[in-house]
Amino acid sequence: MTTTKCRHLLTLDDLGTEGLERVIDRALAAKQTHSPSRLLAGYSLAMLFEKASTRTRVSFEAGMTQLGGHAIFLAPGDTQIGRGEPVTDTARVLSRMVDAVMIRNHDHAMLASFADAASVPVINGLTDRCHPCQLLADLLTIEEHRGKLTGSTVAWIGDGNNMCRSYMTAARLAGFTVRIASPAGYEPNAEELAATDGAAVLCESAIEAADKADVIVTDVWASMGDEAERQQRLTDFAGYQVNARVMAAANEDALFMHCLPAHRGEEVTAEVIDGPRSIVWDEAENRLHAQKALLLDLILG
Ligand code: CP
Ligand code: NVA
Repeated sequence: MTTTKCRHLLTLDDLGTEGLERVIDRALAAKQTHSPSRLLAGYSLAMLFEKASTRTRVSFEAGMTQLGGHAIFLAPGDTQIGRGEPVTDTARVLSRMVDAVMIRNHDHAMLASFADAASVPVINGLTDRCHPCQLLADLLTIEEHRGKLTGSTVAWIGDGNNMCRSYMTAARLAGFTVRIASPAGYEPNAEELAATDGAAVLCESAIEAADKADVIVTDVWASMGDEAERQQRLTDFAGYQVNARVMAAANEDALFMHCLPAHRGEEVTAEVIDGPRSIVWDEAENRLHAQKALLLDLILG
């Protein structure tokens, strides 16, 4: 059950340009052919959730079942981690029992320590820093609707948060541009922007970011962990709603995406998210297809 060498997915850089393309191509092919596969029969995935989840939990669990394997849901309060067992000890123990571990937690550094001590693949199911699994689904969805993303323009409107950071990494790896509009004080870090080599560009307003964009993306104004700042954020983000005016600035056939959960009337209007250019339900479904491809890639190689 234990392996000495394994690959993790802590950020999209762990896949790199080639790995990203390989996983998305595999997901697309499996989805299009509806080919049943029991390639993970006898394999287990442990899932540690420090934060709430609907899509991530269900897509990993259903994905493992569909591939013939099994997923085990672990809430920290129900494990010895909640009683102070070091995460590195937990990583060593789980590595002796399961074939991969998926973690959703607050602190990215804790995920990295866990992965260092693990001898099976560790998958980031969202941290304060990034959400690479969501990007696998997002890129798959855009490719399904529009073909290869290379050369396209994505507008990110809202918080310079974990999702925004993952879009910046994806843009650098997959060769598209992400134009970011965030309120003052909520922009992505300047050093991280510079590290994208021009793939991510900061804009002055939502309209400027959306101008002739191919895809418009947003996310909640207060992420998990930001709840205490919610009222302040409602004020600060008021000019950063994706609405009909913002969509009108984009290309005529521009798509709208949101990782969900969404707050209609805050970061997006109902008219946009429930409108004809929204592909959020395909995007949500594609968490399943992308992660099945990822599990096969990481576990079987
Ligand atoms: N998009 C996403 O990760 O959804 P959940 O928080 O429901 O898992
Ligand atoms: N930025 C959001 C994404 C939820 C899937 C959060 O971290 O809560």
